Amino acid sequence: MRVIGRILAGLGLLILVGLLALVIALRRDAPCGAAAPPADGALMTAVVHRCYGPPGVLRIEQVTRPVPAEDEVLVRVHAVSLNPLDFHYLRGTPYVVRLESGFGKPTDVRLGVDFAGTVESVGRRVTQFKPGDEVFGGHTGAFAQYVTVKAARALTLKPSDASFAEAAALPIAAVTALQGLRDAGRIRAGQRVLVNGASGGVGTYAVQIAKSYGAEVTGVCSARNAALVSSLGADHIIDYATTDFTREATRYDLILDTVSTHSLAEYRRVLTPAGRVVIVGNAHLGNWLSPFWTPVKALVLSKFTRQQFVPVLAELRKDDLAELANLMQAHQLKSVIDRTLPFAELPQGLAYVEAGHARGKVVVEVP
Ligand SMILES: NC(=O)c1ccc[n+]([C@@H]2O[C@H](COP(=O)([O-])OP(=O)(O)OC[C@H]3O[C@@H](n4cnc5c(N)ncnc54)[C@H](OP(=O)(O)O)[C@@H]3O)[C@@H](O)[C@H]2O)c1
Repeated sequence: MRVIGRILAGLGLLILVGLLALVIALRRDAPCGAAAPPADGALMTAVVHRCYGPPGVLRIEQVTRPVPAEDEVLVRVHAVSLNPLDFHYLRGTPYVVRLESGFGKPTDVRLGVDFAGTVESVGRRVTQFKPGDEVFGGHTGAFAQYVTVKAARALTLKPSDASFAEAAALPIAAVTALQGLRDAGRIRAGQRVLVNGASGGVGTYAVQIAKSYGAEVTGVCSARNAALVSSLGADHIIDYATTDFTREATRYDLILDTVSTHSLAEYRRVLTPAGRVVIVGNAHLGNWLSPFWTPVKALVLSKFTRQQFVPVLAELRKDDLAELANLMQAHQLKSVIDRTLPFAELPQGLAYVEAGHARGKVVVEVP
């Protein structure tokens, strides 16, 4: 027994030391260092980050232009849009992000995901796209003049009526709204749907997509954005500064929450008996384990009630991008663009998004 006790104590100590080492490694910020030596081959302009930190660490540099593999498409990027995801990768927070992006400093200096542009060239095995096609999609490293994307992945034709800016605004935010409402939320016509955070990137698309499914939509936003959210089709508006919707009498079949301003218990009060809450985002994420609390609580709670609490992690899929393009082409979906900035002001744009009060999307033009 004593031996087993010693082994267990030793194991416990090992785990503790391992965890401590992981914590130290995760929160260590390596210095930015000097700019990279001149790149080889054909060059392009890109926004890069050689360390974790605020938007001020971003640099515009000349880097090697990517070459498409045989199943890839090379896109000349004309516009990109900014998302909270970008500043999470820029800062390397919550620290769990660094398990993928690199300890100390990013292993991939490129940033950005959402883009729209023109196909420059295609790999040998690509048949769906040809040079000159106007496309939009998502891929890491989009904050650059060129990006390569697998033809079978998150890339589709741009709606012909839409500008590059309007298409670049779509990918992450609109796919999240679509998958949140349709897949996690199981939205149906006639349902009462509430979008908490209705004036943001995800929220402005969610209001319109919920309307396209025939729902009765309530948008929660501030008074300054009430007219905007109404213009997107919301049937009712609640000003979050003056009214706590979880204290009102109205019950909802589906709540899409992009800001996490209420506890799950508060949401339960205003959910129908078989209602669903889709948890998309949290404006106040901590750096360590707090990002996991709400999803874990949601999954546990859902085991014990008919009401369902569903955390969602959107995945950029080609068919969903195409569905959004169709909605846009049918004039059932538009991009709300807060501002369009020149490439050199991309860091300021990210700081603005990080402040949490963008109206719809921030787009950056790529020269
Ligand atoms: N799970 C996923 O796959 C996924 C995908 C995309 C995004 N996200 C997350 O979802 C969240 C929203 O993303 P986003 O792109 O929509 O962000 P965003 O565009 O930056 O959202 C900003 C909007 O939130 C509104 N807002 C701030 N506080 C509010 C409150 N208390 N009540 C209601 N609205 C409030 C702001 O309106 P005012 O200026 O009027 O306050 C502003 O219009 C982020 O946390 C993001 O990380 C998750």
